[in-house]
Amino acid sequence: MTKKFNKRNQKVNKRALIIGITGQDGSYLAEFLLSRGYEVHGLIRRSSSFNTGRLDDIYQDPHESHRRLYLHYGDLIDSHSLLNIISESQPDEIYNLGAQSHVRVSFDIPEYTADVDALGTTRLLDAVRASKLPAKIYQAGSSEMFGKVLETPQKENTPFNPQSPYACAKVFSHFICKNYRDSYGMFIANGILFNHESPRRGKTFVTKKITEGLADIRLGKKDRIYLGNLDAKRDWGYAPDYVEAMWQMLQEEKPNDYVISTGETHSVREFAEEAARLIDMDLQWKGSGLEEEGIDAKTGQTIISIDPKYYRPSEVDALLGDSSKAKKNLGWEPKVKFKELVKIMMVGEFEERKLDSSAYLS
Ligand code: NAP
Ligand code: GDD
Repeated sequence: MTKKFNKRNQKVNKRALIIGITGQDGSYLAEFLLSRGYEVHGLIRRSSSFNTGRLDDIYQDPHESHRRLYLHYGDLIDSHSLLNIISESQPDEIYNLGAQSHVRVSFDIPEYTADVDALGTTRLLDAVRASKLPAKIYQAGSSEMFGKVLETPQKENTPFNPQSPYACAKVFSHFICKNYRDSYGMFIANGILFNHESPRRGKTFVTKKITEGLADIRLGKKDRIYLGNLDAKRDWGYAPDYVEAMWQMLQEEKPNDYVISTGETHSVREFAEEAARLIDMDLQWKGSGLEEEGIDAKTGQTIISIDPKYYRPSEVDALLGDSSKAKKNLGWEPKVKFKELVKIMMVGEFEERKLDSSAYLS
């Protein structure tokens, strides 16, 4: 790996800037890059509450002389902060993972979502262009861009058909990245990542909501959880596998676009059944529509009910990715598939609560 010199004239490996370092993916990517010897810079937002919890394991005191993790305040809606951070960190690689990433919430705050997820990308690209740095850029595109799918499985050349303000903003970002690549010869790789989860997933995404809720029920802390559309299907992978793919895309000689997925699709219902099975519950369904309920047949207790507030004005019914291009060019393949993912998340629930998971998992 090429060595460089930092401001203190110390030899360092490559430098990366992660926008969105406090999120699920940002935290795994920071760990991955640090383990590869990178100096890692991250943009964090000012918040009245603590927002660096996912970085606890890698946090380094600013007074440490050999630290390789630097956090800078900034925001994708503040161009000057982006220019300043790029100038301060002089990155070789930039990962744009920053986003208002909740699809349902994007219907409530469409203008803000577009500002961050679409214009934010443009601000970042323009700041890199102005800096004249030859930094390689990764853009966090999403399978949501396929929306009401026009082809199954979805691959890089499947047409987009977005169904939410979030997805529309991500489509804009995808194309503005291509435009800057073509217009200015910048190295920009568009990842089109299908859903990826982990114990660090935000608590309002359906997988984490299910594992956290069922663990609470198992521990007697809650009676039931409320969900929306049980029949939506997603191609769910494991976040640490996916951040490795982001890095691999930036090690290529030429920029390219890649679908990253597992090639399996499962419904929300199946995810809940598998999570319940792991903690010795037998989840059976009764009724239909808003009246449908999930019952633990072992106890007779209703553990899942429907709340229509979790339905979306327009839904993405089923996603299934074909990541054969990534396999061929990058040698990337998912290591973790559906059942193992659910298990990792369920075990994570007990570990988070400092409990021995083997006492609860069947
Ligand atoms: P996440 O956990 O929601 O993290 C999003 C990150 O963006 C957080 O660090 C957040 O900071 C930051 N952010 C939000 N608004 C910002 C702003 N105005 N300026 C700067 N940073 C801002 O999302 P994730 O699951 O890690 O996903 C990472 C990226 O991949 C996102 O762009 C997402 O849309 C995309 N993606 C995710 C998936 C998936 O399944 N996870 C699939 C495809 C694409 P705070 O911590 O301060 O909120
Ligand atoms: N969040 C949530 N909460 N979703 C629910 C619920 C619920 O109570 N009940 C059912 N669902 C359904 C949603 O309607 C959706 O069809 C599916 O579960 C998955 O929802 P989320 O976990 O919120 O993820 P998402 O697929 O909408 O979006 C995630 O994946 C995208 C990649 O395809 C996010 O991470 C996006 O940022 C990402 O781009």
